Amino acid sequence: MASRTLQGGTRALQRLPLLSSSSTTARVRRSFTSSTRVMSSFYQSWEPKGPSVKTEIPGPKAKQAISELNQVFDTRSLNMLTDYYSSSGNYIVDPDGNTLLDVYAQIASIPVGYNNPHLIEAARSEQMVNALINRPALGNFPPADWASVLEAGILKVAPKGLNQVFTAMAGSDANETAYKAAFMWKRQQERGGANVEFTAEEMESAMKNELSPGSKPLSILSFKTAFHGRLFGSLSTTRSKPIHKLDIPAFDWPQATFPQVKYPLDQHAKENAEAERKALEEVEHLILNYHARPCAVVIEPIQSEGGDNHASPAFFRGLREVTKKHDVLLIVDEVQTGVGATGKFWAHEHWDLPTPPDMVTFSKKAQTAGYYFGNPELRPNKPYRQFNTWMGDPARALLFKAIIEEIERLDLVRHTAKVGDYLYGKLEALSKKYPGHFDNLRGKGMGTFIAFDNPKRDQFLAEAKKFGVNIGGSGQSAVRLRPMLIFEQSHADILIDVLEKVVKSLS
Ligand SMILES: Cc1ncc(COP(=O)(O)O)c(C=O)c1O
Repeated sequence: MASRTLQGGTRALQRLPLLSSSSTTARVRRSFTSSTRVMSSFYQSWEPKGPSVKTEIPGPKAKQAISELNQVFDTRSLNMLTDYYSSSGNYIVDPDGNTLLDVYAQIASIPVGYNNPHLIEAARSEQMVNALINRPALGNFPPADWASVLEAGILKVAPKGLNQVFTAMAGSDANETAYKAAFMWKRQQERGGANVEFTAEEMESAMKNELSPGSKPLSILSFKTAFHGRLFGSLSTTRSKPIHKLDIPAFDWPQATFPQVKYPLDQHAKENAEAERKALEEVEHLILNYHARPCAVVIEPIQSEGGDNHASPAFFRGLREVTKKHDVLLIVDEVQTGVGATGKFWAHEHWDLPTPPDMVTFSKKAQTAGYYFGNPELRPNKPYRQFNTWMGDPARALLFKAIIEEIERLDLVRHTAKVGDYLYGKLEALSKKYPGHFDNLRGKGMGTFIAFDNPKRDQFLAEAKKFGVNIGGSGQSAVRLRPMLIFEQSHADILIDVLEKVVKSLS
């Protein structure tokens, strides 16, 4: 473990004076260019050369620590106890010194590697220390430089056509607040505008959790097998697994069928187009006929937790058209797909939409969260209608700014598109060599956002750990790949080699 620690991670960074002075900081900066070739040499100098599995996982040290943890914290969802000091780049390390190539990345949430030097540099800045120890009640006391932090960070990468943001705490929260904005927008429209005052009846019925006299119920339409989070509103739009929803009161909101397509998409274009046409027809039917009329439709560009389900750009353009036609908002949930993994900064850029979505929600790799919007009418007509103590976190916004700098400096979105194509090609070859093990391979042309089905999925994931790769699943049978944006061809080769070993061990 000692030698492993020397190769990467914050411990190693502390020993090396690299980030402690401004001249060495400049040296780090100089070593970054937009060339992925240079990126390789930089990252690989910080990372272990490959996975190394020394004990079973969990090993003796992890088992001991887990049993201590279990006394005070529910460990039943624990996947792997982690040593974050020793983890570096694409590699996650456990307390027994097992070093795994991590293509799960904290459920798709680590963008530029564990202990990324540029993020460490940002974390040590005076601005970050200040943001961390003087956390503002953001709506009331925003920091004097908040506009510039937003402009240089979150808003710098705002989806085309959306120039404002409401910051939030997590993916569920981002969706939840976007839904609230949608309800307020629709009721304001019904009321006749932002300047029309609430009636006494409206205020009274609100306090009784009742609809105001004469108004009809509204809803948010989501799709079967969608995942949008676990708070009350977001959970009502989540339809992936019963275990998430059991016992929790839910809103009576409609769900439409997500297109039931066949993979690879380009080889089943005709029947997929028919499935998508039917799905759009169902959406329109629900918009027009559901007893609680949808004021917004929420959709993931690729249904992630629900099993990595794809649809074509034409479907999403159709959805934009239907929502526009009926004056319903389109909320694109980019919590998992956003920030580069699909080979575009935002996955919905793949769709070539004639008009932007009304709101785009984000979290995970952004490390901060919220929703983007463009229409000023999506700001509630009065203060405190959309408000929380924290409503986001300037420290996390600064981190996203540093992540964006790193992504731009290393051209990581284009890099991910290229590596994704390489990885997909290798997986395609594996799927031909081992029929039945890489079913429904999907994610062609979508960066590293790739998945396939395996009938023994859970066993598959457990075996992969033994061979040195940490992979996640989604839905019933999908093996989902969610590498970081610094994942390179050399990592793809390691992954492919391990996948082949896994298949042989399962056969
Ligand atoms: C598409 C999508 N939306 C929302 C969420 C909820 O995010 P969080 O877990 O940060 O609340 C997730 C989480 O996996 C997600 O994948």
